[in-house]
Amino acid sequence: MRRPSLDAARLGALAPVLTVEVLEEATSTNAVAGDRARAGAPEGTVVVAEHQTAGRGRLDRTWQAPPRSSLTFSLVLRPTVPAVEWPWLPLLTGHVVARALRGAGYAAGVKWPNDVLIDDRKVAGILVERVETPAGPAAVVGVGLNVSLTAEELPVPSATSLAIEAGAEPDRTAVLALLLQALVEAYDAWQAGGAEARDHLAASYAAGCVTVGRDVRVELPGGDRLLGRATGVDRQGRLTVTGAAGETAVGAGDVVHVRSVT
Ligand code: BTN
Repeated sequence: MRRPSLDAARLGALAPVLTVEVLEEATSTNAVAGDRARAGAPEGTVVVAEHQTAGRGRLDRTWQAPPRSSLTFSLVLRPTVPAVEWPWLPLLTGHVVARALRGAGYAAGVKWPNDVLIDDRKVAGILVERVETPAGPAAVVGVGLNVSLTAEELPVPSATSLAIEAGAEPDRTAVLALLLQALVEAYDAWQAGGAEARDHLAASYAAGCVTVGRDVRVELPGGDRLLGRATGVDRQGRLTVTGAAGETAVGAGDVVHVRSVT
């Protein structure tokens, strides 16, 4: 399959807000962006790879895709909001990616905390990592979006790609520019808008999260399993689940949507 390269010159138009570096190959864009941040890279530095050889996923998983079949990129941020708000960054990112894809015509939604789904199939994953740098802590926001993967190339049958959903391969450069602009706009509003903007994000995330209202199985980090109905997302970004033992607020874990609630 012929897969066009990203057009680095077009991405240059995102300067000066964003500086986009396109690499033919990287271990992990999160790793490279972390190195750049430690070396002093400013907020708005973006590392994109046409192919990752050691892409990282959440919960110590890997992230793999054939060369030029996806968008795999990482954005360096240096948030100034109180540290207690940082856990919202992955949720903000998933919410914004889903919203931008909806704007482009895909029926996308965010599964708590930050998987982006189309019709219950995962199209994008997000990994946000904190990096200690001489200028203070930074956040590396990594996004992997399946663009032109065929059904045979999907890592798991429960995944999908934009091409599978649309029946045509979108222009990766245009999708990347769209996502980056949407991310910067939402991040700036969240950073600059004070408590009101942060309350607004919490409310709009909860309203748009496709997990809320579903029966779920949550695999908790310690190995325990929680079954119940997802009822909402609290002010800390935790998923509230009502099960046999009452309501539990889940801060981390792997959620499986068990069935729809009609
Ligand atoms: C997940 O759903 O498990 C998160 C996947 C995150 C993958 C992206 S691809 C770009 C960036 N670099 C990485 O190594 N991981 C993230």
